[in-house]
Amino acid sequence: MDTMNCNLSAVLFDEGTIQKRIRELGAELSTEYTHKNPILVCILKGAVTFMTDLMRHMTIPLEIDFMSISSYGESTISSGVVKIRKDIDSDIADRHILIIEDIVDSGLSLHYLKEYLIKHKPASVKTCVLLDKPTAHKVPVDIEYKGFEIENEFVVGYGLDYAEKYRNLPYIGILKEEVYI
Ligand code: IMP
Ligand code: MG
Repeated sequence: MDTMNCNLSAVLFDEGTIQKRIRELGAELSTEYTHKNPILVCILKGAVTFMTDLMRHMTIPLEIDFMSISSYGESTISSGVVKIRKDIDSDIADRHILIIEDIVDSGLSLHYLKEYLIKHKPASVKTCVLLDKPTAHKVPVDIEYKGFEIENEFVVGYGLDYAEKYRNLPYIGILKEEVYI
């Protein structure tokens, strides 16, 4: 077992399970956004893997953009402080925006992002997240498209990191508490 795997207590979603769900989401979004030429806004860095797979299962014209906000730093506890590190490049006025996020924990990041993007007067703003921890929400958030719901555990892999590591795992696993406590 390599050093990345031995820090995981379990594999939550294997590669096949993730890819199957993303194909379903891609098909659903292709129908919903037909003739809407949406802009997929990927929230760096965690959602990179998810967005690059998801967009290849969308069969309609679309555009992509990227935003980076600060959330966790090197800790596993949300600081509640949301700061824009990289803003979108596109003019999103009157456009259909789909926020692509890796995971919703407290919901603070998503809440902030939605409020921020709405100020640019888009035609619509919806959210597509791979993972949601419903019991961890601290603010109300609307999630229109969701991959999976999970318990309140710290997970890594498939783009998700702990201290910038594990993003390259093709599956999602639960990080052993002893790794971060
Ligand atoms: P929120 O603002 O508390 O909802 O946090 C959302 C952000 O925190 C996500 O975009 C992730 O980058 C990070 N995050 C939350 N939970 C986890 C986790 O279990 N593993 C890795 N990153 C996480
Ligand atoms: Mg992160």
